[in-house]
Amino acid sequence: MGRWCEGVDSVSVPSGIRCWSQDKTMSAGMGADCRRLSDAELFSAAVDVLDANRTPHGTRASPHLYPHQWSWDAAFIAAGLAVIDTSRARAELDLLHAGQWANGMIPHIVFAPDAGGYFPGPERWACASVSPHAPHGVATSGIIQPPVHALALAAIMEADAGQQLHTDAWQGAALQKVAAWHRYLVRERTDSTTGLITLFHGWESGMDNSPRWDAPYGKVAPGKDLPPYVRRDTHHVGSDSERPQDEEYNRYLWLLEEGKRVGYEASAWKVAGSFQVGDVFATAVFARACDVAATCADSLQMRDVADEMRNFADGARHAVRVHCDAGSGLAHDVDLASGMPLRTDTIAGFAPLLCFTSSDAEFAAAQRTLFSADWCTAEGLAFPLPPSTAPQSPAFEEERYWRGPVWPIMNWLLGWALGEGGDAEGAAHLRAHGLDQLRDGTFAEYYQPYDGSPLGSMKQSWTAAAALMWLAQGASIPGR
Ligand code: SER
Repeated sequence: MGRWCEGVDSVSVPSGIRCWSQDKTMSAGMGADCRRLSDAELFSAAVDVLDANRTPHGTRASPHLYPHQWSWDAAFIAAGLAVIDTSRARAELDLLHAGQWANGMIPHIVFAPDAGGYFPGPERWACASVSPHAPHGVATSGIIQPPVHALALAAIMEADAGQQLHTDAWQGAALQKVAAWHRYLVRERTDSTTGLITLFHGWESGMDNSPRWDAPYGKVAPGKDLPPYVRRDTHHVGSDSERPQDEEYNRYLWLLEEGKRVGYEASAWKVAGSFQVGDVFATAVFARACDVAATCADSLQMRDVADEMRNFADGARHAVRVHCDAGSGLAHDVDLASGMPLRTDTIAGFAPLLCFTSSDAEFAAAQRTLFSADWCTAEGLAFPLPPSTAPQSPAFEEERYWRGPVWPIMNWLLGWALGEGGDAEGAAHLRAHGLDQLRDGTFAEYYQPYDGSPLGSMKQSWTAAAALMWLAQGASIPGR
């Protein structure tokens, strides 16, 4: 064990939060009986979660709700694994890349061979029978998720270098996979009018039921020929109020049918799709991922790739810039069907933090908004961390998935971005309070903002990865 285990701290219960044991039952009340894990205990519990979710086909995103590899989950998991075992981290990315399509697309799910336990499964997606680009021998979905993968590659390269492991051949091959993925996003998913990454399904944003998509989803009318289905997701959470509603699910499944009918081909989906949005958050992630990929390419002496990635980054950054509000710094999405801006205040609005730095006005404004009483320091929050939707928004729901709960992986990502952008204090704040939230040891997918209760799936792999990445940064730094 490394430096994160030194000087095990005694951990007290922050006032105002309820106490939960690891199986998500509430314990005897506030205070004395509430166990909060120390840094060392949290580290070891996070490793246990990733070990328990390990399969020969990659790390399950969660034990039951998401029993396969999800694209952006797998990238964060690989980055977390780089803290403890770089060979496993490399294998995690390799398994994801085995599902990459011939056109460069990294699909949002790579199914394990038994493919059970999740709906919609491979039969419903039917990728290999409708698209010449889909791989044979590996079952996948036909849509995308935010392109965070270069971050994982960089984390692995740094960890390998730290251990004097010479994995250049692997690194070069993995970078080519990432570059092909980025080329796909520019060639097939970049909207020519806004410059934003185009999505044809809310699942592609990773923030499925976020109110950012309410208006465009309102125009999606599931056809009478929507094949029947039975939801499985609600079996694996404490309450239906933690998941999207049935009518939302009908739309999700309808958009899947739309995609299948056009072979998941972006050019055809653009003509026929009933949901088409420009995602400013995915675009900002992409800009930063291209920067990171360029740095990886520099260190591998792959000059052409480095230049190409920097060029992509410039284009994506420009698109984010023109979709920022000058006052709040928050960025907005666009409904590409109508050209209308989508301005609901959600965590995705903090896109500028991902692709700008503290010398940019957009970054500084978004940073002020993040730590304002509208967000991190809103009244009554269990921890000063950003809810997925602004608490004062009429769309806010404190338990429902992306409509209000606090997501640890977003805290990690925004904290990382703040640090990279030059706000060490902001990064330390999200790290310190983000870790405190996780000291209940449930590794929940998301948390209720006011009482701190764990929601969604417990033992979520990317939550464990976030804990490892934060703890690997060294001793706790006091927050603001
Ligand atoms: N996040 C979706 C689900 O909950 C699919 O990616 O099933």
